[in-house]
Amino acid sequence: MRKDVRILLVGEPKVGKTSLIMSLVSEEFPQVVPYRAEEITIPADVTPERVPTHIVDYSGKGDGGEANVICIVYAVNNKKSIEKVTSHWIPLINDNTDKDSRVPVILVGNKSDLVEHSSMETILPVMNQYTEIETCVECSAKNLKNISELFYYAQKAVLHPTGPLYCPEEKQ
Ligand code: GTP
Ligand code: MG
Repeated sequence: MRKDVRILLVGEPKVGKTSLIMSLVSEEFPQVVPYRAEEITIPADVTPERVPTHIVDYSGKGDGGEANVICIVYAVNNKKSIEKVTSHWIPLINDNTDKDSRVPVILVGNKSDLVEHSSMETILPVMNQYTEIETCVECSAKNLKNISELFYYAQKAVLHPTGPLYCPEEKQ
């Protein structure tokens, strides 16, 4: 059995990566956030899957360590941050991960409190295009919507992956 899970959050500036982490930890929306959250470790007994979970706020420098799952965060009210998921973040992740060790990706649409409509229409074609995307979730660090779900999905993507771990056609 796996001894821990390492979750990395990436995404465009100001989409709310640090706020998401702080909201999870303190169960309230932080009015002021540092640029970057310190790496935090959630003890096994308070995680749904009973595995110690490290959460890393990507600084834009270095490779972010050996992540087991990567959350690409965008803001549902920011079209550019959605476009960058496919134009920047997915290619960057592919360039930095070993082809043989699939790292699951979760698309995270933050700031759902600011819009009426969902971003799913835009996101679904992206999900279908990239097999490494495990799931997607819309959430709000501000009203704490789907925050614990997000981290649960991330744990689950590592511990119980649903996607293909091995693609025979890519091995040739
Ligand atoms: P960088 O570290 O600069 O890349 O930004 P970040 O992605 O860590 O975003 P950060 O958490 O600093 O949040 C950016 C701004 O968005 C702040 O003013 C937050 O208060 C605000 N914000 C974050 N999450 C939400 C949310 O769910 N809803 C709303 N309305 N505002 C949010
Ligand atoms: Mg930040």
